[in-house]
Amino acid sequence: MCSNFNNTENKDSILNIENLSIQFDFKNLFSKTRSVPAVENLNLSINKGEFVALVGESGCGKSLTALSIMKLLPKAAHISNGKIIFCNKNITTLSKKDFRSISGNEISIIFQDPMSSLNPLKKAGIQIAEAAIAHGKDKKTAEKKAMEMLKLTGFKDPQNIYNSYPSELSGGMKQRILIAMALINEPKLLIADEPTTALDVTIQAEIIELLFKLNKKLGTAVLLISHDLTVVANICSKIYVMYSGEIIENSSTEELLTNPLHPYTKALIQTIPDLEKRLSKLTVLSGNVPSLEERSSLNCRFYDRCELRKTVNISEKCRHQKLQLEEYDKEHFVRCCSYCMKSNDKTLSSGGNF
Ligand SMILES: Nc1ncnc2c1ncn2[C@@H]1O[C@H](COP(=O)(O)OP(=O)(O)OP(=O)(O)O)[C@@H](O)[C@H]1O
Ligand code: SF4
Ligand SMILES: [Mg+2]
Repeated sequence: MCSNFNNTENKDSILNIENLSIQFDFKNLFSKTRSVPAVENLNLSINKGEFVALVGESGCGKSLTALSIMKLLPKAAHISNGKIIFCNKNITTLSKKDFRSISGNEISIIFQDPMSSLNPLKKAGIQIAEAAIAHGKDKKTAEKKAMEMLKLTGFKDPQNIYNSYPSELSGGMKQRILIAMALINEPKLLIADEPTTALDVTIQAEIIELLFKLNKKLGTAVLLISHDLTVVANICSKIYVMYSGEIIENSSTEELLTNPLHPYTKALIQTIPDLEKRLSKLTVLSGNVPSLEERSSLNCRFYDRCELRKTVNISEKCRHQKLQLEEYDKEHFVRCCSYCMKSNDKTLSSGGNF
């Protein structure tokens, strides 16, 4: 349980991101600053032990969201608005130095490329143990714990793996090492940013299954980031769909897969082989994703690619009516005029037939 819990706080809350906006400030040759939004008004919550997915296509802002939690944003980017609450504590304004006691200890992150995250000159086991030593464990305890983690992450011969260098291990093994390293301090939250993208398909499934098993066994909450809904569909309890810097839909996984609302979510679902038959028509997403610069001038960022607005003839509304992420059904949120209950008449909500 989170250490600073008191009676007025949600004891189950691990992560609560409120209205998070991230912007880049680029300087031109004349030192004039140009600010562009990369993530806007993002809300996301994860409870104790939950397995939550953040999905969306390349460039939509998934990694920046993860990096902002870990205080690892690129130099030109910063949080321009909103809060990141971890275990009921606002960590948004914590300095990098103060965040060090949380990073790798209470929140861990694994990235998509296992090779670049491991030191090629150090034995795998030592690197795992060092993650524990960095947070106060003595060498002997850390080494013992590292062996335990190797067993837990499915290695049949942990002693041998402990003494191997990264170059002697396959991609899948290296990713297991990173998972062991990320979990050695029993964090409350693990962020896995595309952890299987660099691996081949059979290994991808193994790694995702391992994350799922560890989530159940250790009770670690997981935020799994992926551009592929197929990867997350079977294991996450909640899915957030991101498009062009914004959450455009979120709900429980079951609700999202059986009753998707936003046309982009529907297009994503059609990429899942088993669910393909549930929707009558395959959609080809033509049109452009707006650039970072174009985003702010657009009401709906999906406008250019959206067939739904033509079907139900609401293009004007899509362009001019202020869009928000609204609760369409219980715990099911969507950002689309066609389902907007507060400011639309309900007849437009038939847009779900797309
Ligand atoms: N260091 C940087 N400098 C300039 N722009 C950046 C930088 N890092 C990210 N961006 C831009 O910010 C936007 C969001 O990037 P982000 O890495 O979060 O996307 P993503 O959703 O993780 O994509 P992917 O699935 O490809 O990993 C993109 O348009 C990207 O080009
Ligand atoms: S707001 Fe309009 S353009 Fe945007 S997704 Fe909904 S129907 Fe399509
Ligand atoms: Mg990314």
